[in-house]
Amino acid sequence: MNYSDFGERFRHRSGITLLMEDLAAGLAQDDMIMLGGGNPAAIPEALELFQQTLDKICANGRLLQALANYDGPQGRQRFLELLADYFNARYDWGISWRNIALTHGSQSAFFAIFNSFAGRSRGRRRHVLLPITPEYIGYTDIGIEEGMFVSREPEIEHLDDGFFKYHIDFGQLEITPDTGLVCVSRPTNPSGNVLTDEECRRLDEMARREGVPLLLDNAYGTPFPHIIFNEVTPFWNDNTIVCMSLSKLGLPGVRTGIVIANEEAITQLSNMTAITSLSPGGVGPVLVEELIRDQALSRLSDEIIRPFYQQRCERTLTMLRQAIDDPRLHIHLPEGAIFLWLWFEGLSIPSGELYRELKREGLLVIPGEYFFPGQEVRPDSHATRCIRMNYVRDETEMARGIEILARVVKRYW
Ligand SMILES: Cc1ncc(COP(=O)(O)O)c(C=O)c1O
Repeated sequence: MNYSDFGERFRHRSGITLLMEDLAAGLAQDDMIMLGGGNPAAIPEALELFQQTLDKICANGRLLQALANYDGPQGRQRFLELLADYFNARYDWGISWRNIALTHGSQSAFFAIFNSFAGRSRGRRRHVLLPITPEYIGYTDIGIEEGMFVSREPEIEHLDDGFFKYHIDFGQLEITPDTGLVCVSRPTNPSGNVLTDEECRRLDEMARREGVPLLLDNAYGTPFPHIIFNEVTPFWNDNTIVCMSLSKLGLPGVRTGIVIANEEAITQLSNMTAITSLSPGGVGPVLVEELIRDQALSRLSDEIIRPFYQQRCERTLTMLRQAIDDPRLHIHLPEGAIFLWLWFEGLSIPSGELYRELKREGLLVIPGEYFFPGQEVRPDSHATRCIRMNYVRDETEMARGIEILARVVKRYW
């Protein structure tokens, strides 16, 4: 077949395709331990709340109404209004429904937004600047033009107890006339890093000075799903594009992303939705609308989701430290999101090979090198000695996975 340049971009299997295929294949294979993907945990109390809410919207006809109608391209009006009130009540952002658009998951929002601000523009080629890596694997192949990303290596701060933390290296960071967008995930997938308020403030200041929007990917952040273990201030102003999602609340199947931005950016994004898919899905909004009305969304996030992940995280750390008692294992300080980022310093094989060995033994993780969009990853670099594992599976599975990991890693140290 003769594909266009645009079509060609989607012919090769990218890191994200591999990840989603592994996820689907692993789910179908009973004995594979799935610490690779980003599927949220099945939290019994959360599932029960969703079931009750579904029963309610089924009984009161709202679900059927959502299924039987198209919403407008910006998304379900009532939900947009409730969300604006929800954010204003907490953070005093002074936004209205005109500042919010829904998309088919935040991933599709990234496709629209990255390609709207970066790429060929009035004789220039603009890039997306990732001020810090590692960054979310899902950004990597999203540009319809080659070479969309410019990214920076992090500063590494060593902490007590074998932890480390990445920081933005502001000394290396430059927003130039060729920068179209600055983007960070906060909390960061894969590292669990949470940019400090000060780092956010400095990024915002730099971006505003150059008239470049700052995208904050808040898929795991505050106020929902609130998978964040330290107190940070959520951030928005009219130069910021905050992307949120219902996925990590435990609802990835509804494919609902939420974008908060200035009215011009929201109108442009809604036009794209109308052109590419008419309107966003209505099931997620009608369900979560009910949670907001019942004051259940904050309770779900603060009292169910966050403590669940925090406990899982602490338990997994204990198991890891017991199984791999070696100072060459460094763990990024888990401040949020649902992953641990492990650095096996001095390992004799790169993490791509480690991934294949682990998969052969029945454990799926993600090799580190996929998380450095915009960089040529050298075979012996820090990136290739890191892996990402989630900690969402139950304790027995986590223990089996960690036992495999410890056994295989020891072979190559
Ligand atoms: C950092 C981050 N942002 C965004 C997403 C995409 O979420 P969704 O498209 O399901 O809203 C993910 C998914 O894992 C993620 O980890």
